[in-house]
Amino acid sequence: MNTLHYKQFRILLVDDETDNLENLLFALGLTFDLITAASGAEALDIMAREKIAVIITDQRMPNMTGSELLGRVKESFPDTVRILITAYADIDAAVSAINTGDVYRYIGKDRAIDEIEAYIKQAIEHYHMKAENIRLYALLAESRKIGAIGALAAGVAHEINTPTHYIGENLRFLLESFQNVEEVLKRYEQLKNAVSQGGEPLAALLSDLDNFNEQIEIGYLREEIPSALKQSLEGNQRVADIVRAMKLFCHPGLDEMVPTYLNQGIMSTITLSRNEWKYVADLITQLDPHLPPVNCLPGEINQVILNIIVNAAHAIGEKIETNPEHKGEITIRTLRNEDNVEIRIGDNGQGIPPAIQSRVFDHFFTTKDVGKGTGQGLAIAHSVIVEKHHGAITFETSPGQGTTFIIQLPFLPPEAADQAIA
Ligand SMILES: Nc1ncnc2c1ncn2[C@@H]1O[C@H](COP(=O)(O)OP(=O)(O)OP(=O)(O)O)[C@@H](O)[C@H]1O
Ligand SMILES: [Mg+2]
Repeated sequence: MNTLHYKQFRILLVDDETDNLENLLFALGLTFDLITAASGAEALDIMAREKIAVIITDQRMPNMTGSELLGRVKESFPDTVRILITAYADIDAAVSAINTGDVYRYIGKDRAIDEIEAYIKQAIEHYHMKAENIRLYALLAESRKIGAIGALAAGVAHEINTPTHYIGENLRFLLESFQNVEEVLKRYEQLKNAVSQGGEPLAALLSDLDNFNEQIEIGYLREEIPSALKQSLEGNQRVADIVRAMKLFCHPGLDEMVPTYLNQGIMSTITLSRNEWKYVADLITQLDPHLPPVNCLPGEINQVILNIIVNAAHAIGEKIETNPEHKGEITIRTLRNEDNVEIRIGDNGQGIPPAIQSRVFDHFFTTKDVGKGTGQGLAIAHSVIVEKHHGAITFETSPGQGTTFIIQLPFLPPEAADQAIA
């Protein structure tokens, strides 16, 4: 904090009595970057135009009092640190402004200048720390987004490896079987030649063919070859699905809100996260095929779904630890409400105990061991859904029974739905 350059932060002083302002300017002008306004209205005008780190206002002003002004500043410019200057007679107004959270602190009118200077420095430090926090959270969210694919990579590799493995096995089987089929074809060729030329004894050739067919178990091959081909095609489809899911999950370049049908992104996220839940739970989807599109950042919404699915798998994992035979269930539903789209992700895991229910959306709140959780999943989910998308995220939980997270996103007016992507 010592290296903070206080002059880099703009301070707005508001007072209708210009004498007061001039005194402060004179005393503090060298230490801070000060500008002044003579009324609440003028102050709001200035704030609409430029970034103000700290606003310091007198309480007694005509038209708009200091605390009224700060209430409005809190609404429109919540990052600005707000200080009220009051005479002793107005202390009640100051206390109530502090209690409603409109004011960071108040300064009595009779305070010495070096005390005021110290308060302003503190306010700047507070502003700077908040700004740094916001910047760091954004960085964290970004690095987690990038890290998600990395974190899923081992699971995804495993998911691709399984079909690739049996496609390989099947192809080897087909190659070997074809050598036998080739032999059978050769023998038919001989038989055909013998029949058309009428020379060689047919009986010997026929019995040779029968023997060979028996030896190579032709009946078995005729059943197994088509099924090996079918299985390989399915495996290939599975790999193609995973690759497509990865592309959809990342949505590279989509940093802007786009009209999106959510079901497909949800399916991709389920595909990619399969390795995270398949050992502890079955996953059931009930996706409304007529879900209207929502305006969203698809990559970020997928990230939120992923965080909640992983949490659900963990909660079930904890619950069935003692009885691994007994798999849990994750249910993902989408549905349409009157003016929003709802995604419900439910699990029958251990539930969230009442004592921590109010904290799960806090940054860095976790009940998990180091390496398993960092307490960012739901904090990021909250910021993505509430701040970036003006939606809502809540949960219903019953300790020991399970939890359902509910996300609501406002949907688009029908005319905008035409350009929606999947
Ligand atoms: N579905 C759930 N069932 C039970 N508890 C949950 C569930 N989802 C979240 N929690 C609780 O909320 C806490 C915070 O969740 P959050 O996703 O933010 O962090 P985390 O899962 O601990 O770590 P991270 O997501 O960063 O890896 C969890 O540690 C857990 O105690
Ligand atoms: Mg989590």
